[in-house]
Amino acid sequence: MKKVVIIIFALACLSILQKTSYAADVLTPTSSIKGGQELISAGQNFSLGFFTPGTSKSRYVGIWYKNILPQTIVWVANRDSPLNDTSGNLTVAADGNIVLFDGAGNRIWFTNSSRPIQEPIAKLLDSGNLVLIDGKNSDSDSYIWQSFDYPTDTMLPGLKLGWDKTSGLNRYLTSWKSANDPSPGNFTYRFDQKEFPELVIRQGMNITFRSGIWDGIRFNSDDWLSFNEITAFKPQLSVTRNEAVYWDEPGDRLSRFVMRDDGLLQRYIWDNKILKWTQMYEARKDFCDTYGACGANGICNIKDLPAYCDCLKGFIPNSQEEWDSFNWSGGCIRRTPLNCTEGDRFQKLSWVKLPMLLQFWTNNSMSLEECHVECLKNCSCTAYANSALNEGPHGCLLWFGNLIDIRLLITEEDAGGQLDLYVRLAASEIESTANASKRRKIALIISASSLALLLLCIILCLSKKYIKRRRTTTDLGHRNHNEDQAPPLFEIDTILAATNNFSIENKIGEGGFGPVYRGKLAHGQEIAVKRLSKTSKQGISEFMNEVGLVAKLQHRNLVSVLGGCTQGEERMLVYEYMPNSSLDHFIFDPKQGKTLKWRKRYDIIVGIARGLLYLHQDSKLTIIHRDLKTSNILLDNELNPKISDFGVSRIVEGDHFAVTTNEIVGTIGYMSPEYAVNGLLSVKSDVFSFGVIVLEILSGTKSNNFKVKHPDHDHNLLGQVTKTNHMQCNIDFTVKATSRSFFVLCLPLPVLTFS
Ligand SMILES: *[C@@H]1O[C@H](CO)[C@@H](O)[C@H](O)[C@H]1NC(C)=O
Ligand SMILES: *[C@@H]1O[C@H](CO)[C@@H](O)[C@H](O)[C@H]1NC(C)=O
Ligand SMILES: *[C@@H]1O[C@H](CO)[C@@H](O)[C@H](O)[C@H]1NC(C)=O
Ligand SMILES: *[C@@H]1O[C@H](CO)[C@@H](O)[C@H](O)[C@H]1NC(C)=O
Ligand SMILES: *[C@@H]1O[C@H](CO)[C@@H](O)[C@H](O)[C@H]1NC(C)=O
Ligand SMILES: *[C@@H]1O[C@H](CO)[C@@H](O)[C@H](O)[C@H]1NC(C)=O
Ligand SMILES: *[C@@H]1O[C@H](CO)[C@@H](O)[C@H](O)[C@H]1NC(C)=O
Ligand SMILES: *[C@@H]1O[C@H](CO)[C@@H](O)[C@H](O)[C@H]1NC(C)=O
Ligand SMILES: *[C@@H]1O[C@H](CO)[C@@H](O)[C@H](O)[C@H]1NC(C)=O
Ligand SMILES: *[C@@H]1O[C@H](CO)[C@@H](O)[C@H](O)[C@H]1NC(C)=O
Repeated sequence: MKKVVIIIFALACLSILQKTSYAADVLTPTSSIKGGQELISAGQNFSLGFFTPGTSKSRYVGIWYKNILPQTIVWVANRDSPLNDTSGNLTVAADGNIVLFDGAGNRIWFTNSSRPIQEPIAKLLDSGNLVLIDGKNSDSDSYIWQSFDYPTDTMLPGLKLGWDKTSGLNRYLTSWKSANDPSPGNFTYRFDQKEFPELVIRQGMNITFRSGIWDGIRFNSDDWLSFNEITAFKPQLSVTRNEAVYWDEPGDRLSRFVMRDDGLLQRYIWDNKILKWTQMYEARKDFCDTYGACGANGICNIKDLPAYCDCLKGFIPNSQEEWDSFNWSGGCIRRTPLNCTEGDRFQKLSWVKLPMLLQFWTNNSMSLEECHVECLKNCSCTAYANSALNEGPHGCLLWFGNLIDIRLLITEEDAGGQLDLYVRLAASEIESTANASKRRKIALIISASSLALLLLCIILCLSKKYIKRRRTTTDLGHRNHNEDQAPPLFEIDTILAATNNFSIENKIGEGGFGPVYRGKLAHGQEIAVKRLSKTSKQGISEFMNEVGLVAKLQHRNLVSVLGGCTQGEERMLVYEYMPNSSLDHFIFDPKQGKTLKWRKRYDIIVGIARGLLYLHQDSKLTIIHRDLKTSNILLDNELNPKISDFGVSRIVEGDHFAVTTNEIVGTIGYMSPEYAVNGLLSVKSDVFSFGVIVLEILSGTKSNNFKVKHPDHDHNLLGQVTKTNHMQCNIDFTVKATSRSFFVLCLPLPVLTFS
């Protein structure tokens, strides 16, 4: 066996040796390469040779990294005219140009320099650039021809993208058609118009992404700002009257920038440790980067997940119904028409990506005030801004017509200032928003002062208790708080009357600790009574402590405990009654599920998150619920979610470090792996369960239901998400999962109906 392996290995080595027998880095009129032969750059960084991509049958001449597997092609010569058989050679013709011949001697690809060359040499450089130089005149830096001037889909360090008046070239990236076909695909990445250079991805003619306009210092967008943090490559830009070029200085690691055939623009660096390309950056990194994501006069805020879009101030949705169902493509229209002749005002918008320059006018020597006046002169002028930031903000830029592709920038640092946008509105709009903000301010002051009072109360009430607590963790039931005010108590007779002596008709469910009954108090309030079974191990004092604690947790997204009741062996918890039962009855029910629109699902998710945040942070105690699941989320009559069942919850004191516990409780399918396996408990365990709930709400599928399987594979919901890292729910949502956290990306599509 070993021998066979060795022989195969030796054969493989031999064939590699044969393959690379031509290992020079230059071609001259007297030499050529054909199939199986390569040019190799002096430092062994790149190879040039013939290759056949993927499943294709065609052959191409290209450049790839010599020492990187799988073969990573960075340039293709004859992307439009492949070779169809194994014949053909690449050489330098007598006229000084590089030529690719097919077997029949046709020139199927060639460089077309017309400069006379005495001693033409084609050389593959260590930068990955194939250059044509004159051996007689080799001192000159300028190449007669270079592959960097004709990029395909990849930008390597040193390759200058953009236009240059002196050479007349406009270099841009064009995606491959597909992984198996290097011919030009639908996506390009290039500098758009020359007055305000901007890097733009287009699909055919349609823009899908833009970098933001050049403000004299940088592109007016997050991406450019966040580039500063990356050291693996050093992006450079030169924008003058004669050129707009963008390139990377070589950094400390190999990097490349690719316009992919699926429309994504990605930057990779080579990781020497794992021997893989890792992605560093992606244009269109989020929803708001999608060109025109919020339609005309909309503004995108990525922090407003998932209702990303708003109308600009003074604008309203073109169609409220579409807008509510997250279809923002219709954009926004003015609430009040402009007066134009008199009295229009401007609303200042700061820290935004300025709108696309579709129809604009500019004068680089005007002041902001002159710009303001200039805009007012023309009825179709809708916004203005300074046109540049270098040498201080100056110049004038006017927009006409609809404002498209505005987003709030998220990068916080403000290096070198920013361009503010002034949006034209009818005077009445500015006044009404000014009034509104005044009102809001007053309300804020009132609520702030009442909040302060409330906080003071809470601090006074809790401070004593905090000092007393020593242990790092306590079960809710083990807390000693004699000083706590007694929880409200119900007489057993009241409960018996309300629940009709715990009649079987009143029974609405079975909780973890015993049956749950519905009841009605004398004054009409409906209640739910959880009767702890006699076999429950909870002692009376623990039980009362629990009631006391849960009664103190007041939040609209937590179920309210009205009180407790103990008598003899009977122990009961009295809750407000939730007419709509629990979430699982809704989302997993084929009929009810259809009535739950996406907007409502979203509200439910946000509600649960709020309740959870309260438990984890805002309630002053840190409480880990430990058994979050859809059947523990109750819905009130307006379908507001309320977290219930704190039977196994725990208080964690001090910081939220994980604690180890031997007693693992929870529900299969919702427990985080580190908790289920190692007993490591932290607030993150709840967050994991929350993620599972989100997936269930989105997909309408039970996480632990192995019967409902995907037609294409065997995984349950979580298995599918973690296995594929990428789940498509009815193509309307993309749910991505990393090992510990979930991201839900919502696309602007209509209300979901799950089937
Ligand atoms: C290879 O085949 C394609 C498609 O049939 C054709 O367009 C191309 O000209 C052929 N190339 C050569 C070198 O014959
Ligand atoms: C390359 O191909 C051309 C055309 O078939 C042929 O004339 C030339 O001799 C070939 N060069 C070499 C070195 O084989
Ligand atoms: C070479 O020819 C192509 C068209 O075949 C043309 O686009 C390009 O500008 C030419 N380049 C030179 C250097 O003449
Ligand atoms: C060639 O590769 C070596 C090692 O990977 C690297 O240090 C060097 O910078 C590369 N040369 C160029 C011109 O990229
Ligand atoms: C390019 O776009 C056209 C028109 O949208 C489409 O029909 C075609 O399939 C696209 N090609 C690729 C390779 O995606
Ligand atoms: C460009 O957009 C138009 C209208 O939205 C669409 O019909 C067309 O297919 C798009 N073209 C490409 C190449 O995607
Ligand atoms: C969104 O609204 C536009 C009209 O503004 C409509 O043409 C389009 O079909 C809608 N998109 C979806 C996915 O419903
Ligand atoms: C514009 O405002 C002036 C002064 O307030 C008013 O007289 C005029 O009617 C308004 N014009 C329009 C078109 O609203
Ligand atoms: C630009 O503005 C300056 C200052 O207002 C003015 O002198 C100049 O004529 C303007 N230029 C153009 C082309 O409008
Ligand atoms: C207003 O600006 C638009 C767009 O530049 C232009 O077509 C129109 O002539 C201007 N109108 C006036 C009155 O200047």
